[in-house]
Amino acid sequence: MALVPYTETAEMGLQRFHKPLATFSFANHTIQIRQDWKQLGVAAVVWDAAVVLATYLEMGTVELRGCSAVELGAGTGLVGIVAALLGAHVTITDRKVALEFLKSNVQANLPPHIQPKAVVKELTWGQNLGSFSPGEFDLILGADIIYLEETFTDLLQTLEHLCSNHSVVLLACRIRYERDYNFLAMLERQFTGMSLQQFYIIHNGNVKTCQFGNQHFFIAPYLL
Ligand SMILES: C[S@@+](CC[C@H](N)C(=O)[O-])C[C@H]1O[C@@H](n2cnc3c(N)ncnc32)[C@H](O)[C@@H]1O
Repeated sequence: MALVPYTETAEMGLQRFHKPLATFSFANHTIQIRQDWKQLGVAAVVWDAAVVLATYLEMGTVELRGCSAVELGAGTGLVGIVAALLGAHVTITDRKVALEFLKSNVQANLPPHIQPKAVVKELTWGQNLGSFSPGEFDLILGADIIYLEETFTDLLQTLEHLCSNHSVVLLACRIRYERDYNFLAMLERQFTGMSLQQFYIIHNGNVKTCQFGNQHFFIAPYLL
């Protein structure tokens, strides 16, 4: 028998979550995100899905200038910050407990003239939907938010509440477990009823498109 000591931070791939600062370059800006795994866990580190989604936004496939966007489960807010830098009016949301940390990252990374375009607000899926008008947003963003099976129904209810027939929904996630496929099936069932037009799956680098409604879904596994 051997006892192999290890430190939490020495685990391969997890080291970056323990760095107090994560630095990115998007929209001609250097973005420095403060991280604090010990304080808030998953909500206080930047997940690869957020980098994928921010990269996708920067590609310019979706028109951001002047659009009204919401980010769900924003964590540190990287995606919302990039959307604001690219010209969107963004409501950047998460659970109440994560808001103070989120706000500090948003404020630290937006120049004063862009600050008014970004609002940080509580949105706990399926709960305080009354604070948001139905169909309020042109663009709904979410990075790595499909991971807790017990939240799937609430998350779908939230998407349904926030979407109009003209909304674009961009979700980035790695499809890892059977439950992730379950969510995709639930998403398809829920939105087929609303006659959606397109459903994009970017999986292993290949874009797959399925026609079933007006909203556009983009599912990106993170491949970094
Ligand atoms: C894996 S983290 C992803 C954070 C960030 N989007 C990223 O990709 O870096 C999942 C996020 O979803 C948020 N979340 C989890 N359950 C939620 C709920 N019921 N309502 C709202 N947000 C939730 C967490 O607080 C966390 O910020």
